[in-house]
Amino acid sequence: MNQAPRRQPKHRDAQRGRQDKPAAERTAPLLDRSVKRRNGERPDERVPVVLESKASDGYALIDSGDGEKLERYGPYRIVRPDAQALWPRTLPAKDWQGADAIFTGDTDEDGMGRWRFPKTPLGETWPMRLMDVDFHGRFTAFRHVGVFPEQMAHWDWMQAQIRAAKRPLKVLNLFGYTGVASLIAAAAGAEVTHVDASKKAIGWARENQALAKLDSAPIRWICDDAMKFIAREEKRGNTYDIILTDPPKFGRGPSGEIWQLFDHLPLMLDICRDILSPDARGLVLTAYSIRASFFSIHELMRETMRGAGGVVESGELILRESEGGRALSTSLFSRWVPA
Ligand SMILES: C[S@@+](CC[C@H](N)C(=O)[O-])C[C@H]1O[C@@H](n2cnc3c(N)ncnc32)[C@H](O)[C@@H]1O
Repeated sequence: MNQAPRRQPKHRDAQRGRQDKPAAERTAPLLDRSVKRRNGERPDERVPVVLESKASDGYALIDSGDGEKLERYGPYRIVRPDAQALWPRTLPAKDWQGADAIFTGDTDEDGMGRWRFPKTPLGETWPMRLMDVDFHGRFTAFRHVGVFPEQMAHWDWMQAQIRAAKRPLKVLNLFGYTGVASLIAAAAGAEVTHVDASKKAIGWARENQALAKLDSAPIRWICDDAMKFIAREEKRGNTYDIILTDPPKFGRGPSGEIWQLFDHLPLMLDICRDILSPDARGLVLTAYSIRASFFSIHELMRETMRGAGGVVESGELILRESEGGRALSTSLFSRWVPA
């Protein structure tokens, strides 16, 4: 079974060590640039915003409860742990037991575990289609299935921006994983730059490009450390109209560069702001499995975007059960958009 790139080993020592040093020192060795002091008014704010991704032919959150969720990914019903599902299940046990794949293991999102196929052994991948783009669902270690459907709320927004623009928008997808967002952007007419540290994830993304029949679409697949890449783009004077960034809590670049969300996010957003084009349509940040309120990324985004006008809207990405109608929170987000 393949290693899911989202999950990286925990580095408690690194986390402990970082609290001893001020932020400027912690980020200094990373790049020859620190967070700029911005002037001007903070953008307007819209909080809290709850973005909900609707069920479709390709995906539905069917039910959740007792620390697990039951979802439909294309042809398969899949059960995975979800610590946030504190409530009882709506559907009877037989519906859950009838699932095609069940992930058992540590309830911690970083935890190891394994896939069990109660009916018939399944291959590693299967055909999926979301927002008219074909790609592979994929049973990976660490419970992930090659796509995060709650992101569709962002992808809908992005698709609308790209379609409404009277020129091909330039989209940068940082920590782009299996490339579904990049493919949806390209299918809508954008010129896409996709960055991920994992060679394996880039390979999966290229496979998905072929499945989506977007081989000739203008997508640059870049295997690099996200911070290093944007720092280079800033020096080169390259800019983007839309930047999506979905950093993990902890990650590593291809040469072992360490990514720690709480240490590096301010500098990352700061550089992202400087590589937004003069007519940019948005900067979108999502954060999973961090112990923080959406206000922490909201206020960071507003400080980062001081003097840029527009509005920062922040809150949670949720999935709504098709059976019980309850909302399952998946992640925090903050996005800046021009007025
Ligand atoms: C959170 S997932 C992205 C999910 C994706 N945006 C989606 O919605 O499908 C995290 C990705 O970050 C990548 N990553 C981790 N550390 C990185 C780094 N330092 N630079 C670039 N990518 C990194 C991992 O390889 C993984 O693919």
